[in-house]
Amino acid sequence: MLFNLILIGIILFLLFMLSMVWPPDSPWAPWWRTNKKTAKAICKIAKINSKDVIYDLGCGDGEALLQAAKFGASGIGIEIDPLRVLIANLRVIKNNFQNKITIKKSNFFNEDLSKASVIIVYLVPKTLEKLLPKFKKELKKGTRIISYKYEINLPLKSFDKQNQLRLYVI
Ligand SMILES: C[S@@+](CC[C@H](N)C(=O)[O-])C[C@H]1O[C@@H](n2cnc3c(N)ncnc32)[C@H](O)[C@@H]1O
Repeated sequence: MLFNLILIGIILFLLFMLSMVWPPDSPWAPWWRTNKKTAKAICKIAKINSKDVIYDLGCGDGEALLQAAKFGASGIGIEIDPLRVLIANLRVIKNNFQNKITIKKSNFFNEDLSKASVIIVYLVPKTLEKLLPKFKKELKKGTRIISYKYEINLPLKSFDKQNQLRLYVI
């Protein structure tokens, strides 16, 4: 019995480690997430307010959208992994933000981003590079993009070094 539990533990740990190197557009993509402190810093650097429509591309468990909703903003979370979609939806319900946040199970490359006033991304550089032409084509002038950890090839408006947040404005 104990041996079986240890074996299951080792297998789960190996799967978790494997998820760190899995391609970012697969449901096994990294389980790295934005914590509450960073999510609050995102709202601060982007000056998020009640008029904002936020698109969180690869929203994970929805932490950034939940924080943004506390500032009155509306949010659309686009997430490819069904498990994370489920977790994000449960968190939206738990926080009673059903009227503010929609979580969509989809590939963000297939979604129209033109209604966004703010884009939030925590994605690997390769994916950000692939998204750039879409940003340039679809985002309206003045849209703020906040990228956690990784750079986007756009003129940098502001950098929060402590929280590794970069702000770009289209
Ligand atoms: C590094 S995690 C960040 C999760 C969340 N944004 C956070 O900060 O906590 C990247 C997320 O993007 C999702 N993802 C990657 N490629 C995607 C795609 N093409 N469409 C939708 N979601 C995607 C992954 O499933 C994963 O949840």
